[in-house]
Amino acid sequence: MKKYFEQFSKGKSSGIVDFPDVLEACWRSPSNIALVKYWGKKQGQLPANPSLSMTLSKAVTYTGVRAYPASPASISINDDIHHPFIPKLQKLYHLLSEELTVLRDLSLEVRTENSFPHSTGIASSASGISAFTLCLLNIAATLSGSSTDSSAFFRAASYASRLGSGSACRSLYGGFTLWGKTGIVSGTSDLEAVPVNEIVHPDFLHLRDTILIVSSEPKSLASSWGHNLMDTHPFARSRYIQANKNLVMILRALNEGDFDLLAAISENEALSLHALMMTSTDQGFLIRPGTVEIIQKIRNARKNGLPVFFTLDAGPNVHMLYPKRYSAEVEWFTNDELIMHCENQKTIVDYCGEGPVPIHTSLF
Ligand code: PMV
Repeated sequence: MKKYFEQFSKGKSSGIVDFPDVLEACWRSPSNIALVKYWGKKQGQLPANPSLSMTLSKAVTYTGVRAYPASPASISINDDIHHPFIPKLQKLYHLLSEELTVLRDLSLEVRTENSFPHSTGIASSASGISAFTLCLLNIAATLSGSSTDSSAFFRAASYASRLGSGSACRSLYGGFTLWGKTGIVSGTSDLEAVPVNEIVHPDFLHLRDTILIVSSEPKSLASSWGHNLMDTHPFARSRYIQANKNLVMILRALNEGDFDLLAAISENEALSLHALMMTSTDQGFLIRPGTVEIIQKIRNARKNGLPVFFTLDAGPNVHMLYPKRYSAEVEWFTNDELIMHCENQKTIVDYCGEGPVPIHTSLF
């Protein structure tokens, strides 16, 4: 942890000593969709296999944090001290403040809002945790006089976000991001995610993602519980071998601009994730009839020449990815054939995005 946080070490010895009355930091951070999935972890919030994701643009969280010196430390979210997200933030704050002494003994007021409508079933932990972490580290940077636009700052934020939610560490960079040690890309690590855009074909940096909301009910399966199920899953060993092979192939597809290979691997990963859930001891079954209808129609459309493919997160909603230049055709296809399977005809047309940005106006 030391190596990541050295930049903040010039700060005050304690959060209370010489702390200004209040410090505030606000960030906007995006969600990401994994094409090679992280499912299963090792001790210390380390991934059982490397994963690769595309950062989104419209599905973002806006978060502001106001910090006051106070002991004991407390957290409120949107003026609510019983907000369901508080234990997660508290755990992360305590982990970070153990190493980052400048952050000790602070009370935190958190304002947070997702750009995507509430209850669309889109996972918000990647964007929410990364935005919160950026705010905390921004406060640490202010106290220590260090920079918030250096690569060291974003590496620290990726490292720290990972401790709150694995997938959040991939949201710190735009484009395509890889998390997990692999011999095929230098500089990769289990501790932080790295951007891999320089090896991605330029066409793919403009991919679109229409998110088809089949159900907005909160997912019935918490991902931490799902990761734990992998510890005793009968297919775990072969899954990790498969994920590593899929990573090699997806990197080749991304590098060579091979859309068909990208589609085949992404769909295989999405279905493998759900197959793992269905065959675990608790038999998580998250897809709905509408999910299956949409998947079949996407595959048919691709057979008939429309370059679209799907992926799924741990829920029933379908992400349909395609090159930007086919946006008009895909919109017709969506309206004619897919929207009928969506709850209240709900879709979000998103695209490969640029990563987090600081917000210079107060959210309070
Ligand atoms: O970051 P977590 O612990 O919420 O796990 C995310 C797991 C998946 O979203 C299902 C896959 C992934 O790699 O994002």
